[in-house]
Amino acid sequence: MKGIVLSGGRGTRLYPATKAVSKQLIPLYDKPMVYYPIASLMQMGIRDILIVTTPEDEERYRHLLRDGAQWGIHISYCRQPKPEGIAQALLLGRDFINGAPIALILGDNFIYGEGFNQSLTRASTLTSGAINFAYRVSDPERYGIIEFDPNGRPLRLVEKPKKPKSNWALIGLYVYDKRAPDLAAEQKPSARGELEITDLNQRYLDMGQLQVEKLGAGNAWLDTGTHDSWLEACHYVQTIFHRQGQMIGCLEEVAYRNNFITAEQLDRLADEMKASTYGQYLKALLA
Ligand code: TTP
Repeated sequence: MKGIVLSGGRGTRLYPATKAVSKQLIPLYDKPMVYYPIASLMQMGIRDILIVTTPEDEERYRHLLRDGAQWGIHISYCRQPKPEGIAQALLLGRDFINGAPIALILGDNFIYGEGFNQSLTRASTLTSGAINFAYRVSDPERYGIIEFDPNGRPLRLVEKPKKPKSNWALIGLYVYDKRAPDLAAEQKPSARGELEITDLNQRYLDMGQLQVEKLGAGNAWLDTGTHDSWLEACHYVQTIFHRQGQMIGCLEEVAYRNNFITAEQLDRLADEMKASTYGQYLKALLA
């Protein structure tokens, strides 16, 4: 399986903080936001990752993430000239995908929890159909939601419903079989001019091939798209770090635990950052 991180977009809800810098490059507590979705993909065992960026930001992403070899993975880059929809990433990344199953993750929201890690592991074995992940929310009218039939089977996807019939919101992680780029190519832009990911998910649902993983209450789903939600997410990451001594979204740690890099490589990465608590955390992993 390959992975795509959507790191384009305008980030206007965070203006002026994101006027001169891409939203997914600003830090979430101690590391750039884009680390979190990359960590989720790496937790799925994915080692081949495409970062979709705006043309202006590509160089900065390259500067930060390089070719991924430092984490034992391969990172490549692709420009999205305009934010014309999440499903467009499957067309832009067609050559990269090259017939593999694909995990598509948004750069601005993340999930944390034991249950989520298990769901990721299960999703990484998908060969046919698609998987969406749902999280119970109290304000479903703000999200794309999924309704279920009385037997718990996915019934309908509804974008920001005025009168929601379900509290299950879909989070920004989608796993597809190799047909996804072809199906996306058949899509027409929506009224707002975007290739909607909901339309692609609906296609899989209509074919009876959409599975939905419900994430339990023990997981936290954090959106970072507004000033308050960004700050709350920063505090959440800090709290878990202080109370449990566990970093969220630490690429070096995931790489080391997945045996993508050796202890010697981790030690070198830690040395480069030894002045920060981040570097000290990496050192402590080796103790
Ligand atoms: P959005 O929430 O649609 O957009 P945004 O957060 O960049 O912009 P705004 O604050 O103005 O609403 O996007 C969700 C994520 O998906 C975000 O990480 C950006 C990314 N994205 C792209 O990379 N390309 C796209 O075409 C779209 C629509 C989103």
